[in-house]
Amino acid sequence: MKVITAKSSGFCFGVKRAVDKVYSLIDKEVEGVKTLGPLIHNENVTEELKEKGIQLINDVNEVDDGVVVLRSHGVAKEVYDTLNNKSVDYIDVTCPFVLKIHRIVEEESKKGSKIIILGNKDHPEIKGICGWISGEYIIIENKKEAENLVFNVNDKIVVVAQTTFNTKKFKQLVEILEKKWYYYNVLKSCKVLNTICNATEIRQSEARDLAKSVDTMLIIGGKHSSNTQKLFEICKKECENTYYIQTIKDLHYNMFLNSTCVGITAGASTPKKIIEEVQEHVRNNF
Ligand code: F3S
Repeated sequence: MKVITAKSSGFCFGVKRAVDKVYSLIDKEVEGVKTLGPLIHNENVTEELKEKGIQLINDVNEVDDGVVVLRSHGVAKEVYDTLNNKSVDYIDVTCPFVLKIHRIVEEESKKGSKIIILGNKDHPEIKGICGWISGEYIIIENKKEAENLVFNVNDKIVVVAQTTFNTKKFKQLVEILEKKWYYYNVLKSCKVLNTICNATEIRQSEARDLAKSVDTMLIIGGKHSSNTQKLFEICKKECENTYYIQTIKDLHYNMFLNSTCVGITAGASTPKKIIEEVQEHVRNNF
C-alpha cells in the first residue's frame, strides 16, 4: 500500500513546547506536578502522564500545593489570580499565539469595544479568552448565529478567532458581519483580527490537498480534539473514504477496500510515535 503522510501532521509548536516542559519536570523528578485539565487532547498521552505520576486536576480551587501546569490552551485571568492568592507555584505553557489573543481582548475590551469571538463555545481556549474580557462579548460558531446578530449605531466591535478555527468558515462569517456593519453604519468602528494560528491553516490546507489525491484518508487524533475533528470534516468533503482513528486498534480492513494509496494526517495533539505506528501498520498489513 502506498502511504503518504502530510508534512505538518502531529504536534504543533505550542503543543510540543507544553509536552516537552512536562517531560522535563518528570526527568528532574519534580514532585506534586499537576496539569489543569488534560495537558493535550490525547488519551494515550494523558494515560502515560498519569503513570509517570502527573496528576490531573480540573479546578484550581482543588489545589493548595505542588506545581500547576497551565496548558497550551490558556486560562482565564481569574485562574492566575487564584493561584497567586494561594501562593501555589505554576508553570505557564500557554501557547504564545493564544496569549496574544488574551492581550488583544483584554486591551480592546478595556477601551470599550464589544468582542466577537469566532469559535467553539465549549472549547477550553474560548473559555480562557472570555476570562480576559472586561466588557461585553459574543461567541459565534456558525452562519445562523452571525446572521441573527443585531448592532447599535454606537457599537465598536473587535473580532478575533479561536486559533484552530476553520479558515474558510472564518471568511464566511466575517463576510456576513461586514455586510451587517455596513447596514448598521458601524463599519468604520469595527475591526477583524485573524488570530487563526498559521500552523492550523497550513495543516488544514495540506490535509485538503492530500485528501483530494488518495483513495483512503486517515485522520489520527484524540476523541476530544477539536482541531482533529475539523481536519476530519475538511477531508471528508474531498475524500468519501475518510476515517477518524485514535490508534492502530481502530484500523479495519474495510477502510482499504479498492484502495492503493492512503493519506494520513493528524491533529496537533497526536504524538509522532502514534503517527509512525499507523503509517507502518497500513503500509505492511493492508
Ligand atoms: Fe499554538 Fe497554534 Fe498549536 S496556537 S498550540 S501553535 S495550533
